[in-house]
Amino acid sequence: MSETPSNTKKLYIKTYGCQMNVYDSERMAEALGGSGYTEVSSPEEADMILLNTCHIREKAAEKVYSELGRYKDLKIANPDLKIGVAGCVAQAEGEEIMRRQPMVDLVVGPQSYHRLPELEAKAGHGQKALDTDFPEEDKFEKLKSRPKAKRAPAAFLTVQEGCDKFCAFCVVPYTRGAEVSRPVDRILTEARDLVERGVREITLLGQNVNAYHGAGEGGTWGLARLIRELAKVDGLERIRFTTSHPNDMEDDLIAAHGDCEKLMPYLHLPVQSGSDKILKAMNRKHTAEEYLRLIERIRAARPDIAMSGDFIVGFPGETDQDFEDTMSLVREVGYGSAFSFKYSPRPGTPAAEKGDKMVDPDVASERLHRLQSLITEQQHAFQDAMVGREVSVLFERKGRLPGQMVGKSEYLHAVHVTDDVAVGDIQRVRIIESGPNSLGGVLLR
Ligand code: SAH
Ligand code: SF4
Ligand code: F3S
Repeated sequence: MSETPSNTKKLYIKTYGCQMNVYDSERMAEALGGSGYTEVSSPEEADMILLNTCHIREKAAEKVYSELGRYKDLKIANPDLKIGVAGCVAQAEGEEIMRRQPMVDLVVGPQSYHRLPELEAKAGHGQKALDTDFPEEDKFEKLKSRPKAKRAPAAFLTVQEGCDKFCAFCVVPYTRGAEVSRPVDRILTEARDLVERGVREITLLGQNVNAYHGAGEGGTWGLARLIRELAKVDGLERIRFTTSHPNDMEDDLIAAHGDCEKLMPYLHLPVQSGSDKILKAMNRKHTAEEYLRLIERIRAARPDIAMSGDFIVGFPGETDQDFEDTMSLVREVGYGSAFSFKYSPRPGTPAAEKGDKMVDPDVASERLHRLQSLITEQQHAFQDAMVGREVSVLFERKGRLPGQMVGKSEYLHAVHVTDDVAVGDIQRVRIIESGPNSLGGVLLR
């Protein structure tokens, strides 16, 4: 496979941001495998360091620059060390990164990873390489196929990328580009390949995964049809998908939660706010009531589904009443888990450009704290309610204690047992205790 087998160079990749970056990092490592690189776990040993970055909030972007600062001594000690920045900061800031951090040799946007080997060859010894195009060709096709190595039992598979929704606060449509769906046959081939290598659970990824509309037999397929086809793959036992937009939750996808056994009862469905005024200002194109009715329909199809979501507090113009509306919505839904963030103005997005009055930072912090307390309470209640129940667990790794094995339930809870199970086993488990971050159980055999 390798074009330069005698030349083993070491690659260190650090991944920030969403699951799509995790998937992309794996694929980049494979692409550079063809240039003689093998992955290592510390930057000190590396011949090349690649940061796969996230631009979603200011703090995420700043982390990249502070991490780069930490590599200065390594670069002085080894002038041949190549330093690359990939991902959404690379896309958003491009050459600016090299200006701010001259030791960066290479900048590659999320749509150009397949060109990494060429960029790598070009970079170094004072030469800089930059590629932040949105090329016509399909980067997934151009990437070298995954080597047939054994894999962990749960894997990600990107099926859709980019976003056309343009929520007023969000950089993703600018960093990832327009919505593109991969064709059905390529996804099926990749899924079968993963299964052959030991994968039993696949999480389908997309910035707007339920807007999936890939070319398949007889025309364009939606996500539900793709999931039903994947469910036919022998050996693939569990399917999940993330992240969805409420407006793309179509009837057949809701129905699949009720009748497709391999589709797990967990749904991440961000709403961002419970105030119609703020939802409108965010350009979300739905009301709080529409979201609540949608959840009713999903629960009618799958009553035990674990709901998850994302929230932004302190969006410009958010009043105390708007925030209380968010709290009420959260109370009404009852989340199994949810993520909440303080609004962070992102350069180039409509919300930041309009320069609307920012919410006082202390007020925003206080709101975030209250929302997070409520969510944590719901999370614990949901977790505690599992005690005494039977769940199915896919075991993924050894636990911290001797003899302990850890896996995920269908509701995405971490579950640990001290029974004799192997990585990759799926077993029925009775939950006997609920800890701060995981559940304890015993095997039912
Ligand atoms: N594609 C996904 C997630 C995008 S980013 C979706 O549409 O839901 C993940 C989360 O980050 C968002 O759901 C939102 O809650 C949060 N987020 C995005 N931009 C943000 C910003 N400018 N400030 C604070 N949080 C933000
Ligand atoms: Fe961002 Fe909105 Fe698109 Fe999600 S749907 S990626 S929040 S623009
Ligand atoms: Fe971050 Fe880009 Fe994902 S901005 S959340 S890494 S799509």
